[in-house]
Amino acid sequence: MYKIIKKTIISKTLVEFIIEAKDIANNAYPGEFLIVKKDEVGERIPLTISDIDKESGTVTIVVQEIGLSTKKINALNEGEYFEDVVGPLGNPSDLVTDFDDIKNENILFVAGGVGSAPVYPQVKYLAERGMKPTCIIGSKTKELLVYVDKFKALGVEVIITTDDGTEGIKGPVTIAMKKLIEEEGRKFDRVVAIGPAIMMKFVCLLTKEHNIKTIVSMNTLMVDGTGMCGACRVKVGNETKFACVDGPEFDGHLIDFDEVMKRQSMYKDEEKRALLESEEKENGCGCSKKN
Ligand code: FES
Repeated sequence: MYKIIKKTIISKTLVEFIIEAKDIANNAYPGEFLIVKKDEVGERIPLTISDIDKESGTVTIVVQEIGLSTKKINALNEGEYFEDVVGPLGNPSDLVTDFDDIKNENILFVAGGVGSAPVYPQVKYLAERGMKPTCIIGSKTKELLVYVDKFKALGVEVIITTDDGTEGIKGPVTIAMKKLIEEEGRKFDRVVAIGPAIMMKFVCLLTKEHNIKTIVSMNTLMVDGTGMCGACRVKVGNETKFACVDGPEFDGHLIDFDEVMKRQSMYKDEEKRALLESEEKENGCGCSKKN
C-alpha cells in the first residue's frame, strides 16, 4: 500500500499526487514511469513520474481524468492509499544517461498541457546541475497551464503560450518556437517536446526544417505498461518499438505521428465508453424520469 501524502487539484481534470514510496524514489530518474493501481480491482495506469524527492522518499504523479479509471483515482484523498505502485519503469531520459555529452548543449523544452508534468523533472535535473534550459509551456487556456510556478522556481527561462491568449503569447507552442529560432536567431542543440501528439508532430516538423535534434515522449500511448498489450506500439523509422519497454522517449523526427494519433483515438473512445456506462449506472440514463 502506498500512502498519498499530498493531493493538489491543478484543474477540473488534473490532480497531482505526492506518494510515499521510498524504494521507488531512491531508484527513479526523470523520464521513467510508474504503474499505479487504485485498489484490488482497479485498472493498472501507467504515469510518467513528475517529481522525485529522494530525501523524503516520495514520488509525484499528475493524473488526467480521461475515463473511468482515472476518474476513480482522482477521487482519492490525502491519507488514503494506492493499492499498488510499481516502478520505476521504462528508460530514463537521455539527458540523464548521457549528461556528460549534453551538459554544454543549449536545450529547449516544449511542454503542452499535462506534458509539463513529465518535462518538469528533466528541467529540474538539468537546473540542479547548473544548466539553464529554455522552456515553452503551452495549453488551451490559462486555467489549464501546468507547473508554471514550479518551472519559474528553477530559475530557467519560461515562455507561456495559450491557444486563446488568456496568458502569454496567443497561439500554439510553435509560434513561440518560431519567435525564438526564426525572429531572434536563438540557437538550440536539442529540443525535448512532450505533450499531445498533434503538438509534437508540429514541433518536429519545425525542428526538422531547422535541423535541430528533437526528442519526444510517447508516454500517453501506454495502456498496461508491460510490453504485453501492444497499445504503445510505435513506428520509429523502419523499426517497430514499444513505448513502455523501448521508450518512452524517441527521436521525434523518426515517429509517424499520424499513425500514433489514429491509435490514440481508438483507446480514448474505449475509455469514454466505459466512463459513460458507469455514469449511466450511477445516475440512470434519464429515460425513467419521464415515467
Ligand atoms: Fe502495453 Fe506498452 S503499454 S505494450
